Amino acid sequence: MNEERLTEILGKYEADQSAIIAVLQDIQAEFGYLPKDAILTVSKEMNIPLSRVLSLATFFNAFSMEPKGRHPINVCVGTACHVRGAQLILEKLERELSISSGDTTQDGDFSLDEVRCVGCCGLAPVIMVGDEFHGKLTQTKIPGVLKKYQK
Ligand code: FES
Repeated sequence: MNEERLTEILGKYEADQSAIIAVLQDIQAEFGYLPKDAILTVSKEMNIPLSRVLSLATFFNAFSMEPKGRHPINVCVGTACHVRGAQLILEKLERELSISSGDTTQDGDFSLDEVRCVGCCGLAPVIMVGDEFHGKLTQTKIPGVLKKYQK
């Protein structure tokens, strides 16, 4: 974890306790997850009980306590995607990456998670790789999508 960046983030909000969510969002964006040391520092510097910071960090889906892959994959399992085969897409990704939902590949390239409706149901079934949407997917399209992100 880059301590300097953490200090900058904390400095930006001047230990304003009402900015705790924004602070956690910035840390998540900077490091890709919420490192334990960062949580401890935030609690100390912002004078917020550790239990409170931890409960916020685990309550919101946008936050992760574990490092994610360089290319985080989120499979939409909302209703529209579910009826159009999201489970088959998820299973294909699990097979292709040799990981289960919630895990990260050993080389750190990809992590795989499930999310509820990402807001483009017309493209169901949809996955997001990082910030990019891939819609109207079939199992046969998955290797091509992954290839785009593989070194
Ligand atoms: S249910 Fe998947 S995008 Fe809405």
